[in-house]
Amino acid sequence: MNPGLKLSHLTVVTSVLAICGSLRAKSSNLAVLQAAAASAPSGFHVVLFQGLADLPPFNPDLDREPFPASVARFRSELQRTDAVLICSPEYAHGIPGSLKNALDWVVGSGEFSRKPVAAINASLSSAYVLPALTETLRTMDARVVSEACITLPLKQKPLHVSTIISDPQVIRSLQQVLRHHDRRPPYLAVGLAVSSL
Ligand SMILES: Cc1cc2nc3c(=O)[nH]c(=O)nc-3n(C[C@H](O)[C@H](O)[C@H](O)COP(=O)(O)O)c2cc1C
Repeated sequence: MNPGLKLSHLTVVTSVLAICGSLRAKSSNLAVLQAAAASAPSGFHVVLFQGLADLPPFNPDLDREPFPASVARFRSELQRTDAVLICSPEYAHGIPGSLKNALDWVVGSGEFSRKPVAAINASLSSAYVLPALTETLRTMDARVVSEACITLPLKQKPLHVSTIISDPQVIRSLQQVLRHHDRRPPYLAVGLAVSSL
């Protein structure tokens, strides 16, 4: 180790990549993920994936070197994360096209293989999206954490981060979802925090 640095503390961090299935700027599902990130228990680092809209329509002919830059970024973010958290609306009893398109880009490359994934449903009226999503994820060999795939009891629409954060029951549920990812290797990344002498 660099002698100019001293180990100040050892932090064990679980990184979670949060993917929203809605591209709407004022998306309720995005608000849920932002609330999950803001209220994450210590030891968890939730990062929102920002590139869903940049991914081109999946085409096997494009799935070769050089890969589209947005696809390479998506795959790299998935490779680096310990776990994934998805919150998506239901469109016509199914997965929104933009989210399904993103998943299609990583079927062959395998970034979801054995990756712990939780999927949250933020609408009591949506009965189809969660089963469809978990079926697709399992087909991609993701480790779908069933206990962490929940429907949040959110009645108010539209949802804002502040209203979600002010609901202790919902925040407890979101924290519990994250804690289901808190497993020993291969799920944990160890980060060393160092500071100058
Ligand atoms: C094209 C379209 C299709 C929809 N289909 C369904 C549906 O099948 N079932 C359902 O419960 N809600 C459906 N909805 C309602 C959305 O799931 C709901 O508005 C959701 O809150 C949108 O999420 P967002 O705020 O994150 O964008 C649909 C909305 C749109 C725009």
